[in-house]
Amino acid sequence: MSNRTFTMIKPDAMENGHAGAILDRITKEGFKLVALKLTQLSAEKAGEFYAIHKERPFFGELVAFMSRGPIIAAILEKENAVASFRDLIGATNPANAAEGTIRKVFAESIEANAIHGSDSDENAKIEGDFFFNHFERV
Ligand code: TYD
Repeated sequence: MSNRTFTMIKPDAMENGHAGAILDRITKEGFKLVALKLTQLSAEKAGEFYAIHKERPFFGELVAFMSRGPIIAAILEKENAVASFRDLIGATNPANAAEGTIRKVFAESIEANAIHGSDSDENAKIEGDFFFNHFERV
């Protein structure tokens, strides 16, 4: 079990001014920031990041949404980071997310759902490496 996960604050949450509140919540829950950047994905890069979904009907809209504005990408550290962070963000569809989870509080819809959290230790490493080189993390 790894102690790191990867997250993105998505364009909807950035546009709605929730980035500060979300980072505050994440750090208050005991996650330590080990890498952090503000960036914007090109459509090509968004498609690469979500390549696992390329046959799904929502893929085109997802890529357009994820590349429409700035995001914050981060690597986080905590014991049992992947599972514990998935608990904190809640279900993919905010309508199904538990009370108090980040998606329940800040997300707009299943697509514009405010935040990403890796779903496995393997993907946390792949996704962290997608955004950060060795000089950009502690
Ligand atoms: P997924 O990996 O299933 O969810 P999660 O982000 O909770 O791990 O899906 C990736 C993203 O794709 C999801 O955060 C939002 C988007 N999405 C849709 O727009 N429509 C859908 O029906 C699904 C399942 C996902």
